[in-house]
Amino acid sequence: MSAANSISWDPYRPDLTPNPYPTYKRLREEMPLYYNEEYDFYAISRYADIETTLRDRDAYSSAHGDILEFIKAKSVMPDSVFIHQDPPKHTAYRALMQRIITPKRMASVEQDVRAHCARSLDPLVGGDRFDFIVNLGAEMPMRVVSMLLGIPEKDQAAIRQSVDERMRTEAGKPIDLSNQQALQQEALAGFEEYISWREKNPSDDMMTELLLTEFKDPEGVTRKLTREEISNIVNVVAGAGNETTNRLIGWMGKVLAEHPDQRRDIVKNPALVPTAIEELLRFEPPGPFLAREVMRDVTLYGKTVPKGSAMIMLVAAANRDESRFTDGDSFNIHRESRPHLTFGQGIHVCIGASLARLEGRVAMEEVLKRFPEWEVDYENAVLSSTSSVRGWDSLPVWVGSKPKNVTVSAPKPAAPAAAPAPAAPPAEVTLEGSWNVVVKGPTGPQPAVLLLERSGDKITGSQTGQGSTSPIADFKRDGNKIYWVNHITKPMKMKVEFTGEINGNVISGKAKAGFMGSYPFTATKA
Ligand code: HEM
Repeated sequence: MSAANSISWDPYRPDLTPNPYPTYKRLREEMPLYYNEEYDFYAISRYADIETTLRDRDAYSSAHGDILEFIKAKSVMPDSVFIHQDPPKHTAYRALMQRIITPKRMASVEQDVRAHCARSLDPLVGGDRFDFIVNLGAEMPMRVVSMLLGIPEKDQAAIRQSVDERMRTEAGKPIDLSNQQALQQEALAGFEEYISWREKNPSDDMMTELLLTEFKDPEGVTRKLTREEISNIVNVVAGAGNETTNRLIGWMGKVLAEHPDQRRDIVKNPALVPTAIEELLRFEPPGPFLAREVMRDVTLYGKTVPKGSAMIMLVAAANRDESRFTDGDSFNIHRESRPHLTFGQGIHVCIGASLARLEGRVAMEEVLKRFPEWEVDYENAVLSSTSSVRGWDSLPVWVGSKPKNVTVSAPKPAAPAAAPAPAAPPAEVTLEGSWNVVVKGPTGPQPAVLLLERSGDKITGSQTGQGSTSPIADFKRDGNKIYWVNHITKPMKMKVEFTGEINGNVISGKAKAGFMGSYPFTATKA
């Protein structure tokens, strides 16, 4: 076997998450068209190839989405989920959204973005540590999208509360959480309520425009959006914008800490912030790869990629292609500026790129104003990679004095909590409370928090992960055997069934995730 044949790139291997770049380099140089037999997909990694592919909408389709698993499952979404469509469906909704998500509207939120950052960061000044994700990344992008939609902050809380209240019903009586459909309708009703309120109280926000603007639908009929379409579009925008921008903020914390000289340059000259953000986006793209379905036989490097194949485009590899970026593996805010592929290319190119850049720029300015120096606490940082994003779930840093006995070691990927080996029979654990769940999923460890409550004989609760919270259902316990269902909505709607055994304060077993198969999980009592 030649050296080239021995390259293997498995998107699900967690050990590649901390540093996939040497593998990407080899793929670019030795195997620019790669085929993975185990998961049956092709991958390209050179800048020019990915740019051409993303522009070729006839040969490469988004009709089953832009994530490998979705393409393999031939996933079909409603027309208004336009990231998941080809023309003419995509064109109809994208054209409408381009009239609504305008650069002017994005630019108008700068003061609010700054205020959100200040509110998150000010209370941390004077302390020894903060977390780029927990304290900033997980909060700010979500608030900005809500604000653009026109949900005033007091109403954001009120809407959440109204949904929560309906979930609780009369004093002391929980509603039947096994009835998921009813629950989803309840949640939707909260959103519907807000839409109706906004219809009666029009403003200059995105929601008002989504309600009032007419567009030519894919059938050529001029009309307004339905409520369901509005809800889908809001989900696409929030889904595409929140997690990615969150990851950008995490990479900011890590990469600037590792390049203190360049960080100092930016502190001295804040005019460098926009180019520093651009370099950060190139160097560590929050979404490292995109996928498409191949619509006709395509020949690349003398090989035929058959119609119907899944093609992954390694954006993170293309962004370091030496033929385009000299010394591409180095972070250099002073490099000659050239476009990267982090926001994609062609008809699906990110519609929120100017907002993402603005959020990144303002976040960097506000962090550096308050904290010109920091060091990452890698021992407690958690890195993960899913099918759509790669980045930090937690990135704690020291901004003050670091404890003397702490060593700084290499970043580690999120790992499932190790089950302790109890010497004595484990003590009975109370189920109520918070459990840290880690599913060893196909795209690496997926952390979540399971919150259980008891009401009489009944256990109810919710599970939070992938940026969304959903109630658990069908909770059953028989001795040390345990079972529950979590209907997740992100990254796609799916029923996940957890079957496990309780051993002390650890539950371990299998999580069956829809059509994607079963994966080991552990849950540790927090
Ligand atoms: C650093 C942050 C971000 C990154 C890295 C990013 C990346 C991307 C990429 C690569 C695509 C193309 C997907 C494809 O070709 O299949 C995309 C599409 C999209 N992005 Fe972003 N994005 C970011 C922030 C945002 C924000 C803040 C918003 C919302 C305001 C947003 C809204 C969208 C939408 C709606 C699409 C679908 C466009 C279409 O299909 O026509 N993104 N994004």
